[in-house]
Amino acid sequence: MVWFTGLSGSGKSTIANLVDFKLNELGAQSFVLDGDNLRHGICRDLGFSSADRAENVRRAGEIARIMADAGLIVLCAFISPFRTERQMVRDMFQPGEFMDVFINTPLAECIRRDPKGLYEKARAGRISGFTGVDSPYEPPEAPDLVLSTMRESAEALADHVIAALREAGRI
Ligand code: ADX
Repeated sequence: MVWFTGLSGSGKSTIANLVDFKLNELGAQSFVLDGDNLRHGICRDLGFSSADRAENVRRAGEIARIMADAGLIVLCAFISPFRTERQMVRDMFQPGEFMDVFINTPLAECIRRDPKGLYEKARAGRISGFTGVDSPYEPPEAPDLVLSTMRESAEALADHVIAALREAGRI
């Protein structure tokens, strides 16, 4: 289980999808879970309050647990802004089975990229409780991997994840 956390627009899903592609090329079975696929279906009853985000992350963790039991490498990309919930997911896995990856993109850069135009809306007050604008993000204190999107390309960063999986003996 590889858990990507970071601000909206930081690059989590982009990197997770590249890792997925590379794993498939290597013959490993993997799958990406992110807000885009879960929030349209199993989590469509959830919004963005702290309680709903916690529940979103809990469901993602439970689904990932099942998929990992089925032998897949699961790549989860969620803002998952709270340390407590990320720890809860970590606790569902054996030590060494879980890797948390912090996608370290400064807020100013996420605002500049604004791929979905949501920061603009949030800053204009048209969306409330947006992570980084008027809702908190707690960066991980000791992540297994920090990927800095200001320094390297998504492609190179995905290779770091592959290398970490190799080092962990997972591929
Ligand atoms: S999480 O906080 O519960 O982990 P998740 O990763 O599923 O969030 O979904 C985040 C995506 O939902 C963002 O990238 C953005 O496209 C969209 N979104 C809509 N409203 C908000 C909001 N208030 N805060 C953050 N993201 C939001």
